[in-house]
Amino acid sequence: MDGIPNGARLNEPLDKHTTFNIGGKARVWFEPKDAQDLAFALIRLRRENTPVFIIGAGSNVLIKDEGINGVVVCLSSKAFKKIDVENLLVSCGAGVKLMSLIKKTNEIGLGGLEFLSGIPGTVGGSLAMNAGITQTARNAECGMRSYNRSIGDLVEDVMVMDYCGNIKTFFKKDLCFGYRSSNLEKYIILGVHFKLFKKDKQKIKEDIRNYLCRRRKAYGAPGYSAGCIFKNPSVKKSAGWLIDSCGLKGRAVGGAVISAKHANFILNKGEACAADVLALMALIKKEVKDKFKLALKPEIKIWP
Ligand code: EPU
Repeated sequence: MDGIPNGARLNEPLDKHTTFNIGGKARVWFEPKDAQDLAFALIRLRRENTPVFIIGAGSNVLIKDEGINGVVVCLSSKAFKKIDVENLLVSCGAGVKLMSLIKKTNEIGLGGLEFLSGIPGTVGGSLAMNAGITQTARNAECGMRSYNRSIGDLVEDVMVMDYCGNIKTFFKKDLCFGYRSSNLEKYIILGVHFKLFKKDKQKIKEDIRNYLCRRRKAYGAPGYSAGCIFKNPSVKKSAGWLIDSCGLKGRAVGGAVISAKHANFILNKGEACAADVLALMALIKKEVKDKFKLALKPEIKIWP
């Protein structure tokens, strides 16, 4: 690999960059200074076909023990962490942590993002996979109804870079957000405009507290995990409920264990490796398939 960007680090351990606390080493770890620095590196890396992976907060990824024979890019510099507000429009860099954005918009009395409270990702990562929650609401016609709410609902436009270093803007009409998916996944997200609404600051605070409390109640203390491991097969069928119904809470492989609190969480007790987690995932898939004839699909990204 000749095109190693200036300032990059070699053989970077990736466990410390993931909330799972798992992962081999990256051959190269790169934190570009700004978009131009990133574009310059991408052009060179593409010339030699070096694989490039973009990491956000490392909260939704399982990195295999063999590590990454390529470049892991992290948008953690100041240029990717700006937040600017103009009336109801909030411009936000991809590297901003969701919780920092929620805190900032609360301070100025803009609401809309509260339901994302407690999600440990960056704005870029959350947009790429359209992070969100399943919510249950009372419906006049059919009683209780479950539906997905996600970050994509609030987006006006997104600025991205392709892997050749070209910048492009996706306007609302060009954006496709699905359940834990978007058409942004093959780009590098640089920044976004959200359209929020005026809301009483105290009410925002109260709502944030309630969402955090609900999360804590459902999942317990975060520990080392990557959030929900599998997607829900439908809004009516929660992966957590399916895994729980197979009696798998507490089942362990090596240092990886299925949470006793929420069965769609795998916890690293401290010494788990990626192979333990993958073996546990395979076991879960088999049991759910045998009992419910349903094929669970991972929600987390598995690299490489
Ligand atoms: N349930 C069980 N046993 C369990 C887990 C859940 O019976 O071990 C039942 C619950 O009692 C509830 C239903 O399953 O009746 C749904 O559970 P929950 O409300 O926890 O929601 P979920 O569908 O499991 C989704 C998102 C979460 C998000 C919550 C917020 C997915 C895969 N998960 O979970 O997102 O925090 O809604 O309501 O869409 C994530 O993306 O990493 C994540 C954690």
